[in-house]
Amino acid sequence: MNMAVQTTLREEGRDTRSLECSHLGQFEADVLSGLAGAPKTLPCKYLYDEAGSKLFEAICELDDYYLTRTEADIFQNSLDSMAAFLGPSTILVEPGAGNCEKAEPLLGRMDSPHAYCPLDISPEILLAAQQRIQARLPNLNVTPVIGDFTSEDPWAELPVSEHRRVIFFPGSTIGNFTPDQAKGLLRQFAKYLRAGDGLLIGADLVKDSVVLERAYHDSKHITEQFNKNLLTRINSELNGNFDVDAFAHRAFYHRYRQRVEMHLVSLTQQTVTVSGQEFSFKEGETIHTENSHKYTLNGLKELLEQTGFNPKQYWTDNKQHYAIYYANVL
Ligand code: AVJ
Repeated sequence: MNMAVQTTLREEGRDTRSLECSHLGQFEADVLSGLAGAPKTLPCKYLYDEAGSKLFEAICELDDYYLTRTEADIFQNSLDSMAAFLGPSTILVEPGAGNCEKAEPLLGRMDSPHAYCPLDISPEILLAAQQRIQARLPNLNVTPVIGDFTSEDPWAELPVSEHRRVIFFPGSTIGNFTPDQAKGLLRQFAKYLRAGDGLLIGADLVKDSVVLERAYHDSKHITEQFNKNLLTRINSELNGNFDVDAFAHRAFYHRYRQRVEMHLVSLTQQTVTVSGQEFSFKEGETIHTENSHKYTLNGLKELLEQTGFNPKQYWTDNKQHYAIYYANVL
């Protein structure tokens, strides 16, 4: 390929219209291949469109969903010691930042943070958060990067600087990844970091299955709406004809896999069309939509050790429902 053609392609790639097109193309490809599989699956990252992100925020407020408030309590009780580990003039990078609400108290307590770089696929929520944080911490340089943190692209767009970097990965987002995927992701994090840089990561811990299942099958049925919103999204963006009421929300703890699995169960035998392709469902057949892996304190420590990190300190609640770890890059 000659230079002129390469340049044109690169410029086209920067065009926002073709960017949106390629995102839609990826969504379509992932949905079509997920529904063609046996068992049927859909990548959980697609749960978080604008409606899905709002539903997830509502989940975080639920009594049944102990994760968010437990993590918030741990942060509140330990902000000073965490900030000490993060050090002065640090760049805080947050993959999957969403509304950025978890970083705000931390940034307020850190010793003159150099910059905050939230990284997320949802531009609307990210830009609103940028304005809010910028107003509260006017001296802080807030640089949002829009992109999928599991791909290489947004990492290449982060500002280049010699300042110390800490990746902030709260919310048990790591739980969405299987242990193998989690290792790959943390190794990718470690690649972006340099010796002495850090990682502050929150993870949900293994516990009584009744407590776990109530968190994903809440009494207000918000998690059900969150799960089913994926079908609504497919209907509107990929010309689908899912009858959302013909599917039920199911969430259960799989003890051996150490994870809560979320599924959509077909209530009848039915055929659904998406982007002109037909998919048939047997009664009781499921679409696996999300995994939420749970860790033991030791399992989390081992995961960090296996991926190039040196675990330094952890914080937990008195029931040991949730843990936050700080680790250095070796
Ligand atoms: C955002 C991955 C932490 O697994 O608890 C909540 C997502 N799904 N309820 C979790 C979720 C259903 C959540 N994470």
